[in-house]
Amino acid sequence: MAELGEVYTAGRVQIYIGDCRQILRRLPAESVQCCITSPPYWGLRDYEHPDQIGAEETPEEYVRNLVSVFREVGRVLRADGTLWLNVGDAYARNGGTGLCGPNAKVGNTRKLIQKRNCKVPPCWGLKDRDLMGLPWRVAFGLQADGWILRSHIVWIKKAPMPESVRNRPSRATEDIFLFAKNPKYYYNNQAVRERTGANLKNYWVLGPEPCDLEHPAAFPSELVRRCILLGSRPGDLVLDPFSGSGTTGVVAAELQRQAVLIELNPGYARQSRNRITASA
Ligand SMILES: C[S@@+](CC[C@H](N)C(=O)[O-])C[C@H]1O[C@@H](n2cnc3c(N)ncnc32)[C@H](O)[C@@H]1O
Repeated sequence: MAELGEVYTAGRVQIYIGDCRQILRRLPAESVQCCITSPPYWGLRDYEHPDQIGAEETPEEYVRNLVSVFREVGRVLRADGTLWLNVGDAYARNGGTGLCGPNAKVGNTRKLIQKRNCKVPPCWGLKDRDLMGLPWRVAFGLQADGWILRSHIVWIKKAPMPESVRNRPSRATEDIFLFAKNPKYYYNNQAVRERTGANLKNYWVLGPEPCDLEHPAAFPSELVRRCILLGSRPGDLVLDPFSGSGTTGVVAAELQRQAVLIELNPGYARQSRNRITASA
């Protein structure tokens, strides 16, 4: 059974088990070329660990926690490195939809975290049913912390999760931000082009992929493939501090990059190692 603090090695990929806030401090400065990650969305899924990010009392605290994680990511990133960040949004609710409570289930039976659905958070002047704008609040937090925000990419989902809403359009997009540490950074604009040969546009239409993963929130591997190809060279080191099922590691290895993954939940870390080993 895997334990906190343990490190798995699967070919070119290392998987650290633990809280990224501690493990990032152990990584050497300026060693990583490109970070691609998707932290837990605030108040959505329960990843069943007391140190998980995403279960904070308020979304303000969530934004603060992410800013401090990415400050450490900035330290380990090379001067010409980039950060590709996918963050999800949330609605402020008062009373919820009947799905609140520790036994509530979402699609794949993962528990919802109660607070988001039952109580409007006391900040930002939020009201019942307000869209919080969390991706942009995180992006502005990172900008204020010194990151250069270079692009906002809209991930358009070919097959989004159905929503039974009647008073607004259903959500079918998510946000990906490209940040740089410095004005001059590595970006290989020839590595991924539009079908016509034109420069890649900032909307990516991605379909679901056949998958039998236990993780409820895995990235599409095409999303990771684009970020890795645009943001690194073969042999470079890629980082994912919230690595979940290890998609970043699988794609990095396929593209001849090295990778460091960090995951708090030992079960997911073990599954990542098996997945990466099987795909080698
Ligand atoms: C949205 S999922 C990432 C999914 C991933 N992109 C994939 O393709 O599978 C976020 C992950 O962050 C992990 N996590 C939560 N808090 C963490 C922390 N403090 N340190 C490291 N990992 C954490 C959760 O267990 C979860 O697996």
